[in-house]
Amino acid sequence: MTPQDPTGAVLGSWGLLFLLLAPLPCDLCPFRCECSEPTRTVKCVQKELTVVPAGIPRYTRNLFIIKNQITRIGSQDFQGLPSLVTLSLANNRISTVESQAFSNLQSLHYLDLSNNPLFTIHPEAFSAMTNSIQELNLSHSLYNSSAIHSLETALARGGFRNLSRLELTSNEIVYLPPGIFSGLHKLKHLDLRNNSLVDIKNSTFSGLNLKFLDLTLNAFRTLGREALSVFGRQPHLRIFLKDNPFVCNCDIEDLVSWLNQSWQVADVDKLACVFPQELQNTSLVDQAGSELECHSSQAEENAFQTSYAALGVALGVIGVIFLFVLYLNRKGIKMWVNSMWDTCQNFLEEYHYRYEMDSDRRIAQVLALDI
Ligand SMILES: *[C@@H]1O[C@H](CO)[C@@H](O)[C@H](O)[C@H]1NC(C)=O
Ligand SMILES: *[C@@H]1O[C@H](CO)[C@@H](O)[C@H](O)[C@H]1NC(C)=O
Ligand SMILES: *[C@@H]1O[C@H](CO)[C@@H](O)[C@H](O)[C@H]1NC(C)=O
Ligand SMILES: *[C@@H]1O[C@H](CO)[C@@H](O)[C@H](O)[C@H]1NC(C)=O
Ligand SMILES: *[C@@H]1O[C@H](CO)[C@@H](O)[C@H](O)[C@H]1NC(C)=O
Ligand SMILES: *[C@@H]1O[C@H](CO)[C@@H](O)[C@H](O)[C@H]1NC(C)=O
Ligand SMILES: *[C@@H]1O[C@H](CO)[C@@H](O)[C@H](O)[C@H]1NC(C)=O
Repeated sequence: MTPQDPTGAVLGSWGLLFLLLAPLPCDLCPFRCECSEPTRTVKCVQKELTVVPAGIPRYTRNLFIIKNQITRIGSQDFQGLPSLVTLSLANNRISTVESQAFSNLQSLHYLDLSNNPLFTIHPEAFSAMTNSIQELNLSHSLYNSSAIHSLETALARGGFRNLSRLELTSNEIVYLPPGIFSGLHKLKHLDLRNNSLVDIKNSTFSGLNLKFLDLTLNAFRTLGREALSVFGRQPHLRIFLKDNPFVCNCDIEDLVSWLNQSWQVADVDKLACVFPQELQNTSLVDQAGSELECHSSQAEENAFQTSYAALGVALGVIGVIFLFVLYLNRKGIKMWVNSMWDTCQNFLEEYHYRYEMDSDRRIAQVLALDI
């Protein structure tokens, strides 16, 4: 076909027109989005959308509505998308997820809500009966630490029976409500990096059998026996703990001896003391028992107590000897006391006599003057 061939050109334009028109009747693409039917993917990236656009094609498997200004997800936003497997709503301004928001997405495996200021997640946002989500990304997506309670209810009521991976990084989480993950029986991978956790309780991960737990960049100063037994009960677990502000005093002893015999901590060589000053940056596993503050202070305290006891005994012995000497010399002492008494009396009498003499003399003088 050459440009000079009119029939070919006409046929070509018709073909092009046909190609353009063919998908139109059933599969329009929403305004400001890009749709690809062959890959069944729809992208609406950085388009200043404030609501989820209407008319998302029914064929869509992967939907990315990211870097927009959407503030809430309503119950009608994701209707008629039976094939949707991947949904990313990352980097929006979503603070509210309404009832039934995700409950019609029966094929959904990956949901990304990262980088949003979530505050209210309706307890019925997900369908307890048909929730098929396997991976949920909630990194940097809780507005403040109070939002954890809304998440707790949504996880408990949302039927996340197939959830195997949950990301909760960078959420400033200080406290995990007891049993918050307890309904997540298939959870294997839990990422809590970059939060402010200080403790793990028996109830924190109750009912779980994790394979991967990331606790790096939190606020753990140590991990007590309760936490260590929680880890010990999950035999396939690999834990990441670096960049925590470990304080190398006696409270860290249990952790150090556990680290020495457990293989569960994957980054054990990277764990370091941040306090006290003289142990800063030294490896946690190298803290032999005797170097820890508690032992030296314990020893000092013992030495202190010992020296006091010795001093007490010595004083007691001296006291007893003194009394014994007094007893042996009781006669001499009595004589000495008596002689002292006599001396005193003599002295007093003499003094009295002289005083009387003096006063007599003064009386005599006065009398002499008067005359
Ligand atoms: C959960 O996973 C199992 C096995 O992978 C599957 O048979 C089941 O349909 C899934 N449940 C839901 C609600 O998708
Ligand atoms: C979850 O979201 C964060 C922040 O957007 C991102 O860095 C991370 O790669 C995501 N995780 C997965 C598994 O996609
Ligand atoms: C979180 O934000 C809400 C709404 O602004 C506020 O009422 C609540 O006190 C905040 N919680 C914390 C722990 O700051
Ligand atoms: C940690 O989280 C805070 C917000 O909670 C964020 O600003 C910071 O960039 C995060 N740091 C890393 C290393 O991810
Ligand atoms: C923690 O839970 C285990 C088993 O679930 C139990 O045996 C143990 O006594 C509990 N410890 C505490 C401190 O509650
Ligand atoms: C400890 O390591 C950090 C970073 O690796 C460094 O900035 C700091 O100066 C070190 N402190 C000491 C006492 O070595
Ligand atoms: C670590 O364990 C080995 C034996 O398994 C023991 O010889 C060593 O003293 C322990 N080190 C510390 C710091 O507890």
